[in-house]
Parts: sequence; C-alpha cells; structure tokens
Amino acid sequence: MTLSATMRAVEITEAGGPDVLRPAERPVPVPGAGEILIRLAYAGVNRPDALQRAGLYAPPSWASDLPGLEGAGEVVALGPDVSGPAVGDLVCALLPGGGYAEYVVTPAAHALPVPEGLDLKQAACLPETFFTVWSNVFQRGGLVAGERFLVHGGSSGIGTTAIQLAHVFGARVFATAGSPEKCAACVALGAERAIDYREEDFVEVLRAEGGADLILDMVGGDYLPRNVRALADEGRLVQIAFLKGPKVELNFAQVMMRRLTITGSTLRPQSDLAKARIAADLREKVWPLIAAGRVLPVMDSEFPLADATAAHARMESSAHVGKIVLKVA
Ligand SMILES: NC(=O)c1ccc[n+]([C@@H]2O[C@H](COP(=O)([O-])OP(=O)(O)OC[C@H]3O[C@@H](n4cnc5c(N)ncnc54)[C@H](OP(=O)(O)O)[C@@H]3O)[C@@H](O)[C@H]2O)c1
Repeated sequence: MTLSATMRAVEITEAGGPDVLRPAERPVPVPGAGEILIRLAYAGVNRPDALQRAGLYAPPSWASDLPGLEGAGEVVALGPDVSGPAVGDLVCALLPGGGYAEYVVTPAAHALPVPEGLDLKQAACLPETFFTVWSNVFQRGGLVAGERFLVHGGSSGIGTTAIQLAHVFGARVFATAGSPEKCAACVALGAERAIDYREEDFVEVLRAEGGADLILDMVGGDYLPRNVRALADEGRLVQIAFLKGPKVELNFAQVMMRRLTITGSTLRPQSDLAKARIAADLREKVWPLIAAGRVLPVMDSEFPLADATAAHARMESSAHVGKIVLKVA
C-alpha cells in the first residue's frame, strides 16, 4: 500500500480559545522502533486537549505538537521491532499527541483491539479515560468491592467511565454533577447517589454515609479541604486535575489524625512501559467487560475533524454528557 506524503490535520496556531484550532497539512509521521502508524477513523476529544490549546498543558518535548490523545482506526505500517498489532488490524490506541490528524504514530504496546461489539467511533473514545480511570482508581487508589467511592465531574468523559467501572467492580458509587439531568445520567450509569453540587453539599452527603473510602477529583481549589472532610478514616484522595486551581490552604493534621492518603497522577508524561502495563491490565480485566456490554463509552456528540473548534466549544460549555468525538476519515 502506498501512503501519501502529507495528511490533513488540525493544529493549534497559538494559545487561545477554540478558534485557534485550524485545519493544516502536515507530513505523514513515520513509525519508529516499536511504533505503529494508524490511519484514524475517529479521534476522541478530551479536556487536556482544551488545556493544551489554551497554553496551560504543554506537550512533552518528544510528542507531536498536534492535539489528540486517543483514536481508533486501521494499522497501516509498522516500525522496526513491533510485536502484537499487524497491518490491517483495527485498533484503538492511547496517543502521545497527534490525534487530530489522518495518520498518527504510537507505541504498539499502547494499542488495544477494538472490543467486540463496538464500532470505531465508540472505540476511539475508550483509551484516554479508561487508562486514566484504571490507573488512578484501581491501581493507585486501590478501590475494592464494597467501598464507598466518590467521583467529581460524574458526567464527564472521565466520570462516566469511573462510575461504570467502579459499579461493575462492586463499589458503592457517589458522583457529583452540575445539573439534575447530569445527575440522572450518573444514576443511570450505576451511581447509587448523584449529588447536584449547585444544590447540595457533597461533604454532608458522604459523611452521612460514613465517609468516602476513595475520592477521584479533577476540581481541586476549595474541593481539596472539602474532600479531606468527606473522606472516611484511612480514606484516599486521588487528584487528576485542578479545574479550580492547585493552590489552597489545607490542615494536614487531618491527614495524620485520620490516616488519610493524598496522591494523584497524570498519564501523559509517564513512561512507555508504565502505559504498556496499564494497557495489558485493561486488555485482561476490562476489555471483556466492554465486549459483554457491561461497561460502554457514553457518547455525547460527533464533529468533523475540520470543525474541531466547535467540538472544543461544546466541551468548554460543559453542556455535554460523556464523550465528544471527531470524525477523521
Ligand atoms: N490526570 C490525568 O492523567 C488526566 C487524564 C485525562 C483527563 N484528566 C482530567 O480529568 C478531567 C475530566 O476530563 P474529561 O476529558 O472527562 O473532561 P470533560 O468531559 O470536559 O469533564 C470536565 C467536567 O468537569 C466539570 N467541571 C468543569 N469545570 C468545573 C469547575 N470549575 N468546577 C467543578 N466542575 C467543573 C464539568 O461538569 P459539571 O458541569 O457537572 O460541572 C465537566 O463535565 C479534566 O480536568 C482533565 O484535565 C486528567
């Protein structure tokens, strides 16, 4: 098969709002050792893409400057020393960047088969949130069946994934969201109780239940001391973003007196090996649940690649529930 030398992409012309995203022509990337070249059918949109576009989340030096952390399509070329995926395979993959484009390269070990029963559009929306939720809730956060789990931003891409996975693994799930409709969506996905944070105090709700054993938080700011109060003794707080800012005054005596753990992580800067290990775990423990229809990506809306500006505007309106996707091919 002959590949063209150039491809359609969407690039960030300067730091700013959604309209700094512009269609562009770029060279088709060449897969290096251990990498595959994927012709994307769809690319998922994630909040970190919007942060990158706004100049708040620089890509690592070794990654493409194009936004896009996940996608699905066909493997069309292999770099040296690739084991696993073959040319012609349909895969979904975690990307180091570069997903807003017709072609993208990524380590072969970060690609997973399109789960049985899912189309490429749904599959494109799996990697970023499933890698993030699996590594932070189950590996780092150590969630086990029977525990009380609170996730903030329950209707987000991350939140809808976290609710379903925690529920299917037997946790009692509590979620916060910003409207009655979003709360209803959280309950439909398996939350025992959804808390409209504009109307209710999540701290009171959780304390009445005995406190949260684990909280997954992306909000930060004044949520930090409130999360500490909402935790049960020995509870764990895992921070994956700071939508309301990372700096706050906090009484750490509570952490000591109640034996709390505060931790967090971001996925993108982690080593290829660490991401490959998460991929292997997902393939073994989660992909069968997706194929069985017990956990599914929640689809919000689709935009053409060239209209990534509108996709980002929708994400930043926070009107969406679940995942926004770009149609590439
Ligand atoms: N650490 C990692 O590796 C990693 C990986 C992926 C994503 N993330 C982070 O995880 C978060 C969710 O990502 P996503 O792609 O799922 O994004 P998303 O779908 O856009 O979700 C963000 C959600 O946060 C809520 N929100 C927005 N601003 C808020 C504010 N100021 N206070 C409280 N809630 C607010 C909104 O829900 P309401 O309308 O209900 O407020 C929105 O649904 C993002 O912050 C992203 O940066 C981290």
